[in-house]
Amino acid sequence: DEKHRIERIASSIRVIPNFPKPGIMFQDITTLLLDPKAFGDTVELFVERFRDQRISVVAGVEARGFIFGPPIALAIGAKFVPLRKPKKLPGEVISEEYSLEYGTDKIEMHVGAVQPNDRAIVIDDLIATGGTLCAAVKLLERVGAVVVECACVIELPELNVS
Ligand code: PRP
Repeated sequence: DEKHRIERIASSIRVIPNFPKPGIMFQDITTLLLDPKAFGDTVELFVERFRDQRISVVAGVEARGFIFGPPIALAIGAKFVPLRKPKKLPGEVISEEYSLEYGTDKIEMHVGAVQPNDRAIVIDDLIATGGTLCAAVKLLERVGAVVVECACVIELPELNVS
């Protein structure tokens, strides 16, 4: 059942204290990827949620949205669109800046990858402040797509500010 699958997924994620900096509890999904049952169930839970929602775009946030997004996109028959860190995409891009604890960062998307009639979901491994996902939603909405939902494997609710 769903509760059992979620428990298995949660227990497959390794938590590493003080990485990459003191005070950060790093949520390491590489151990989830070592367990094909947990990885498969993770993808399957997203697929069950989104398969009947006429989703045409799965946008994945660099880097770990590139691991979970593509199998979901293939299973629901949607295109996969990578949202990348600056200066990685070779074509024309639009970019969106977002705040970090100190300073700002940016994500970019290829112009033409997403059309105004597209229905999109955004996939990432983890939501902390939500800043990254907000920037992703803005990119997709700027080109006229409807963002149906954002979905992550891990939520750190104690860090949510937005
Ligand atoms: C992490 C995580 C999300 C983001 C969440 O990525 O994979 O993309 O932070 O944080 P937020 O909700 O506060 O915006 P990271 O910045 O470590 O980049 P990486 O995946 O390229 O290592």
